[in-house]
Amino acid sequence: MTHDHTTLDTAKRQPIATDLADGGLAATFTTPGGESAFAVRWNGGVYSYLNQCPHAGGPLDFEGLVLESSGRFLMCARHGAIFEPDTGKCVGGPCRGARLTSLAVREAADGSVWLID
Ligand code: FES
Repeated sequence: MTHDHTTLDTAKRQPIATDLADGGLAATFTTPGGESAFAVRWNGGVYSYLNQCPHAGGPLDFEGLVLESSGRFLMCARHGAIFEPDTGKCVGGPCRGARLTSLAVREAADGSVWLID
């Protein structure tokens, strides 16, 4: 039996987000494996990462806030590392050069966002 990874199995799952505003707050969720994660809409795309900073491992967000004030970077709320929203690469701060762990997501026509496993 084959498994189509692009199929959205809406009967078995819930979306991880339904109302992500571009440049707005992230939606935080728990992966099927039990890890904390977030999804954020930025420059028209939706990006999702484990909510684990490569610096000290803590969550990046503060109550869903992950984009810093200019809107150009994700910023860790703990010690201020900044990351490219579309690649997860740390481009400033204590973990420069490291990367967030990205998760594959797909957006449905109604704007809901689903994890692809
Ligand atoms: S835990 Fe993120 S910068 Fe230190």
